[in-house]
Amino acid sequence: MNSSLFLTLLRRGAMLSAAVLCLGVCPAAESPIRIHTDLTDLLLKVDEQGRLCQSYFGPALQNEQELAMLPPGNEAFATHGPGNQFAPALQMTHPDGNTSLQLVYEKHQTCRLDEGITQTTVSLRDRAYPVEVKLILTAFERENVIKSRTEILHDERGSVTLHAYASSMLRLQAGSYHLTEFSGDWAREANLTETRLTFGKKLLDSPLGTRANMFCSPMFAVALDTPASETNGTVLLGTLAWSGNFRFTFEVDQNNELRILAGINPFASEYPLSPKKVFRTPEFIFTLSTRGIGEASRSLHDWARRHQLKEGEQGRMTLLNNWEATFFDFDEERLCAIMDDAREIGVEMFLLDDGWFGNKHPRHDDTQGLGDWVENREKLPGGIPALTRAAKKRGIRFGLWIEPEMVNPRSLLYEKHPDWILRYPNREACYFRNQLVLDLTNPEVQEFVFGTVDRLMSENPDIAYFKWDCNSPIMNAHSAYLGSEQSRLWVDYVKGLYAVLERIREKYPDLPMMLCSGGGGRTDYGALSYFTEFWPSDNTDPLERIFIQWGYSCFFPLKSLCAHVTNWNRSTSIKFRTDVAMMGKLGFDLVVKKLSPDEIRFVQQALKDYKRLRPTILDGDLYRLVSPYSGQHAALQTVAKDRSQAVLFAYDLNPRYGEPLQPVRPEDLDPDRRYRIREINLMPGESSRLALNDRVLSGDYLMKVGLEIFSTERARSTVVELTAE
Ligand code: GLA
Repeated sequence: MNSSLFLTLLRRGAMLSAAVLCLGVCPAAESPIRIHTDLTDLLLKVDEQGRLCQSYFGPALQNEQELAMLPPGNEAFATHGPGNQFAPALQMTHPDGNTSLQLVYEKHQTCRLDEGITQTTVSLRDRAYPVEVKLILTAFERENVIKSRTEILHDERGSVTLHAYASSMLRLQAGSYHLTEFSGDWAREANLTETRLTFGKKLLDSPLGTRANMFCSPMFAVALDTPASETNGTVLLGTLAWSGNFRFTFEVDQNNELRILAGINPFASEYPLSPKKVFRTPEFIFTLSTRGIGEASRSLHDWARRHQLKEGEQGRMTLLNNWEATFFDFDEERLCAIMDDAREIGVEMFLLDDGWFGNKHPRHDDTQGLGDWVENREKLPGGIPALTRAAKKRGIRFGLWIEPEMVNPRSLLYEKHPDWILRYPNREACYFRNQLVLDLTNPEVQEFVFGTVDRLMSENPDIAYFKWDCNSPIMNAHSAYLGSEQSRLWVDYVKGLYAVLERIREKYPDLPMMLCSGGGGRTDYGALSYFTEFWPSDNTDPLERIFIQWGYSCFFPLKSLCAHVTNWNRSTSIKFRTDVAMMGKLGFDLVVKKLSPDEIRFVQQALKDYKRLRPTILDGDLYRLVSPYSGQHAALQTVAKDRSQAVLFAYDLNPRYGEPLQPVRPEDLDPDRRYRIREINLMPGESSRLALNDRVLSGDYLMKVGLEIFSTERARSTVVELTAE
């Protein structure tokens, strides 16, 4: 093999690195196939008919010799074919019109990809047709996370049509199932709603394409036997790494067994697969905890920081954004004044938002200019170079907003390339925020989108950050490029997007990027391997944000949740707004000049403290102590991995008059160490109302007795630092 081909294969992950150790291929699975983490076992067995079955899924079993005793169980990856009575994980039509598939076990192989990471590939094949399906399961032992995906391949005389192609199928057996979904809408994202699953199906899905998660995020929790709590009960958290249409099917059968199918939403997406081509499904990521949602979340956070999130173990920058301060109305001078503000309050970056581009169709509002990624000469005569220079002069970094997948009809791009735009040729286009979506299935469009970023970066190497927005769902699902194969659109769009993001990550590996989609429209681990953080919601009213950040924090680490102090809900104090935003990747988006001198001093000090505590807040273990869903208060806490420091955030929302208040008990401190209790984020001149402020107490006392930290005041907050002495 020549060396460049070798390198290409290596880069595509088609070859295993020298560290990878594979056990021999097993042609017959006599003993169970064991997908194993420190806390969980998923056991697969082959039954007498040769079918692959799920024998066990639950807490890790201690005695290897007992595994053989388990009955084989039911089919692990049910297909549409003889005998299946429920929703299939895989369904296809063969070129001869036959609609059945019946998979039997062929072989499996287990490889150690890295310390603590094992990948098992189980090959299944159909007895009647040359179709092969690989189930690929990767177990992260320490983090207790398993990823599951499939590869579908055939060698028939023509294309097969895939009608359903799940990434995973899991079976659970319990007395009752309690599903938590994370749904809402723009500005009220990721609300937790719990339902009991009874006989039949419940679907959580999205058909929106680009802004896929506007109504529902691709994540769920299923608690067994009793509703989920933060600290108790057996709970499965699952999420799909796919930035497009997803579908989770929860189906309870007549024996009260629950099947969970997770994958791309096959809605309007029959996929033609040519012979010898591989169809790869996205990864379904899951973790099972017997100690509640809190532990399951921490497992996902650890896994994400170590293995998925872009720059997951690196730092994050604080920033000042100009969006809510100026909207589209700015020029170079105004921006430089905002950069002065950024320096004054002490953030590390200035982020220039929407409105900086377009000349024939200047981007003075959201009706025009999208697609024309050239600086507006009137607003910015010196272009971006003048701005990056201005930022440098002030000792801060410069970040830029882009929305490169979209176009306004009033733009040069639209005039020049009408065939690059998704819309029906014979119907009126339907607009969302006055814009249309570019056709990323088309390689020329992929080149254009990559080129937009690449050109900005080569002309302005000092751009230190991008905010990548995506404000429209696919409202007109027709691609000029795909011709008669329109049903590929929803899948191929995402693959096209990933092809672009892959090139950007490869060329600019250290470039942090925020994933934004009108707030909350794209919140998945597929995209987050290319992005360092995401924008959970345009709603930055702190009272609302407590709920929104709480929801997303079940799946995503705080370092990936952007939280800005803005003017939404100005009736709350700057302290309350900052205290909420500090429980995430902190930024500001307001007119600093309108703050009082005391407020400015407060913000300056809060930023200093945030930078000092950032490793504990962003990389520590998160404990959600008091849920805003259960009353008028909320409390969260992060603890450094070595338990030397913790930060406690407590919020009073809208308490009732004279309501009895409960102490907040921190978790996971070292009972034998003594911690200094220090309230931070106090307004200048304000003294702490915390009775134990500045006292030193043992972790034992703090965890058992707790702190009297809540009040009956509306929108009041307290942030406490606990540092071991
Ligand atoms: C979206 C984003 C906002 C802002 C605007 C700009 O709505 O969520 O933060 O960037 O676009 O048009």
